[in-house]
Amino acid sequence: MGEQPLTGGNRAAEVVRVGDTVRRSRDEGADLAARVLTFLESVGYPYAPRHLGIDERGRDILTYIPGVTTDHPGQRAPGAYAIGGRMLRALHEVTSGHALAAGQECVVHGDPGPFNTIFRDGLPVAFIDWSSCGPGAGLGDLAYLAWTWCIQAQGGVPIEEQALHLRELCDGYGAAVGPEELLDAVVGRQSGLAEAERAVIGDARFTDARRRHAEAAIDWATGDRRLVLRHRELLLTALRGRRRSP
Ligand SMILES: Nc1ncnc2c1ncn2[C@@H]1O[C@H](COP(=O)(O)OP(=O)(O)O)[C@@H](O)[C@H]1O
Ligand SMILES: [Mg+2]
Repeated sequence: MGEQPLTGGNRAAEVVRVGDTVRRSRDEGADLAARVLTFLESVGYPYAPRHLGIDERGRDILTYIPGVTTDHPGQRAPGAYAIGGRMLRALHEVTSGHALAAGQECVVHGDPGPFNTIFRDGLPVAFIDWSSCGPGAGLGDLAYLAWTWCIQAQGGVPIEEQALHLRELCDGYGAAVGPEELLDAVVGRQSGLAEAERAVIGDARFTDARRRHAEAAIDWATGDRRLVLRHRELLLTALRGRRRSP
């Protein structure tokens, strides 16, 4: 059967489609990701591909999930943010206290951006790219989701609209997270990403392409952090007005 390259990823991983499956070269996160995906299948978590094994070329075999990733709110339908929040909350709940959480709060996806989410008709259906998953705290994962889905300095989205998306996403996630705590965690993820990518730029072991990616990622994170800090009060007001589930 033919192999069709899948583009749009952020790393150097080889990702191709073969029929109803995806073949993805194994990276350092692949073993844990396979165990997490197998567990998620066993509990019927619907928002992830299934791990079907390893092929003759040593690549992970995953179910292919039809749809597209998104990088702008214009590509998303009403309700998309609430569903995204619920999908992440469900992950944190089903893994809460499990051995895979290794004594931490839960298993986090680690990189649940809209670029690692498959959408159909503008609505999210699954998170892909589980290489960064592992034990962690729900708040950090929620903050990364909130940032990457709702906040963008580029793209011409009015800040009031970004604030509404943020509120909808947090309502969907549903946990009683304080607005300040959430925004601090968002800024923390933005600073953390910029710092990690700065280390890549200074490390000659990385390829030129990877270093160029690092530069773009730093611009992205610092620009978005500036936006959050500039509009902190507006974002806090939107979050304060939100409904909280018990
Ligand atoms: N299980 C899947 N179902 C459908 N498409 C997928 C799947 N896994 C990956 N893709 C596609 O391949 C692209 C790259 O895969 P990803 O796992 O995100 O790799 P990278 O580490 O390069 O970001 C994704 O943006 C998506 O378009
Ligand atoms: Mg990806």
